[in-house]
Amino acid sequence: MQRRNFLRITGGGIIAAATLSTVGLSGCGTSMPSEAIDAWRGPAPEMATTDVRRWLLSYAILAPHSHNLQSWIVDLSTPNEILLRCDLKRLLPQTDPLSRQIMMSHGTFLELLDLAAKERGMRADITLFPEGAFGPGRPDTRPVARIRLTPDAQVQKDPLFTQVLLRHTNRSAYDLSRPVPVAAWQAMAEATKPYALRFGQVGLERADLLAVHRKIATEAWRIELTTPRTIMESFDVLRVGSSEIAQHRDGLSLLDAKVVLLNRLGMFDRSKAPAPDDYATTSQIKDFGQKIDSTPGFFWMVTQGNDRVTQVNAGRAYARVQLAATAQGLAMQPLSQALQEYPEQRRPYADIHALVDATPRSETVQMWARVGYAPAASPAPRRRLQDFIRV
Ligand SMILES: Cc1cc2nc3c(=O)[nH]c(=O)nc-3n(C[C@H](O)[C@H](O)[C@H](O)COP(=O)(O)O)c2cc1C
Repeated sequence: MQRRNFLRITGGGIIAAATLSTVGLSGCGTSMPSEAIDAWRGPAPEMATTDVRRWLLSYAILAPHSHNLQSWIVDLSTPNEILLRCDLKRLLPQTDPLSRQIMMSHGTFLELLDLAAKERGMRADITLFPEGAFGPGRPDTRPVARIRLTPDAQVQKDPLFTQVLLRHTNRSAYDLSRPVPVAAWQAMAEATKPYALRFGQVGLERADLLAVHRKIATEAWRIELTTPRTIMESFDVLRVGSSEIAQHRDGLSLLDAKVVLLNRLGMFDRSKAPAPDDYATTSQIKDFGQKIDSTPGFFWMVTQGNDRVTQVNAGRAYARVQLAATAQGLAMQPLSQALQEYPEQRRPYADIHALVDATPRSETVQMWARVGYAPAASPAPRRRLQDFIRV
């Protein structure tokens, strides 16, 4: 029996793939609903003349966020001010037990907000954790940031703003024959300059090092997929097919025709983790391996210390790096698994820290990502602007 002709379904079922391909898949909910990606058209023209904060926020909500959770809540009750809080229902306690990536994802939001403010000739004075920073555990209800907005003729526009509507995380195979140009690496490194961190990169000229990066990323991915509670965390925010995506407008979108059909047939069981040898697991490991093998470059960002302000600022730096790469026509995908602090990742965590010369205990690899040229990626869903505004 040729294994690839069969799909093993989560929960143990098996179905012939050939059967699926002969079933009509049209109208099966395999396209991205337009309302879910409406935000990528930018603010409606009439917003330019209303409360400027809503215009700025229309850009900020396009920030990258781990698992696309969009854990941002804003309070607009004080004029000319935005108070940013973390939505405590949108955390990833299994894969991000310290909420480090959640804090980075607030940093990306703040960076885009700041770029948008500059575009409108406004100075955004951002005070992080105005009522004190969260401890090393979970965030709480205290604000992540207070942003005061003041018109300021001295403020200069930042060219990275022009990339905000074009930036997308790209999870496809990259073009291994096209190295990342030196000038592009320089532009990415330059983009991090406002923040205190070390930017490093490796490209095709170091095949030996690339091989080690690929090995660590692949192993960390395998661990994530075969650890039941971490894969279940992804399943919980997996949106399969158009109607689930339109309903939630967040999380991880899956529009693969076969999976959408299986889901419709009630054969994609997301109530329990697939076994390590299930096709659902092995096919994803294989697919990820092919994409990693197609990657011509990796970069990393290392900070001294790992407090909450450092994490937020690392997110701000990451947003700038990705915008700078977008301006160079480059695709990017973070590889967070080996950076995650749950016990099963201890080995890949140590390996990636050692590989990029991060001093144990005093330095933290905040971001590790693959970079290269690739076909354009589709935009990821965003909720409506009003969904983020609580007051
Ligand atoms: C801190 C952080 C960690 C992330 N880690 C991953 C990752 O490990 N793998 C991945 O494919 N995307 C990762 N992403 C990208 C998000 O999944 C992505 O931003 C989100 O799905 C929204 O898509 P967009 O970036 O195209 O707007 C990460 C983003 C951030 C900010």
